[in-house]
Amino acid sequence: MHPPNSAEGQNPVEGFSRRGFIGQATVLAGAAAIPTTIAAPPAAAAPGALTEEAAALEATENLVTVDLKINGTVRKIRVDPRSTLLDTLRERLALTGTKKGCDRGQCGACTVHVDGRRVVSCLTLAAAADGHSVTTIEGLADGDELHPMQQAFIDHDGFQCGFCTPGQIMSAVALVKEGHAGSDDDIREFMSGNICRCSAYPNIVSAIKDGREATS
Ligand code: FES
Ligand code: FES
Repeated sequence: MHPPNSAEGQNPVEGFSRRGFIGQATVLAGAAAIPTTIAAPPAAAAPGALTEEAAALEATENLVTVDLKINGTVRKIRVDPRSTLLDTLRERLALTGTKKGCDRGQCGACTVHVDGRRVVSCLTLAAAADGHSVTTIEGLADGDELHPMQQAFIDHDGFQCGFCTPGQIMSAVALVKEGHAGSDDDIREFMSGNICRCSAYPNIVSAIKDGREATS
């Protein structure tokens, strides 16, 4: 099943190369680095900083306080107890590298790591992540140096539009740690929760094998 159409995945910006785009999207995915076709948070905010909307919400009642260690930085924020981790990352903390595809646990675009394990953040409550360590695509690179799996996806053209790519990479990194990247069939099976509507699957498998070698 393919993720539903999203305005975020359409109409590539003229003059913005696919390889250049994905390099930026996978390294930082900050609002300033994303083409205008990808929805920006309501208020301009540095990645990881509270948006204006979030700051206003902080003052309202009926919220719960959560401590999230996000990409190595501890953040204490007040959230609606019904808020998903995905919306909290994207709308409250301007970490828009994590994508919303189906918003119902079927496409894998929103995959992040919680305590090193991959989860679909659209089905994870932010409150449930209280006290836990969350890693998003923005947290994979070491400064300017891409994570080997990010580099492998670029080297193997493991994407077309790039919308699913952050989730694919987060799953792929976890997949290797899980020991489920031993064969092509294993990779296909254990990556089956990550849908690519561009059908870049052969290149994704090649990239994961390359990334596996670079990280093991
Ligand atoms: S957005 Fe599709 S699984 Fe979360
Ligand atoms: S959905 Fe376009 S590259 Fe995967």
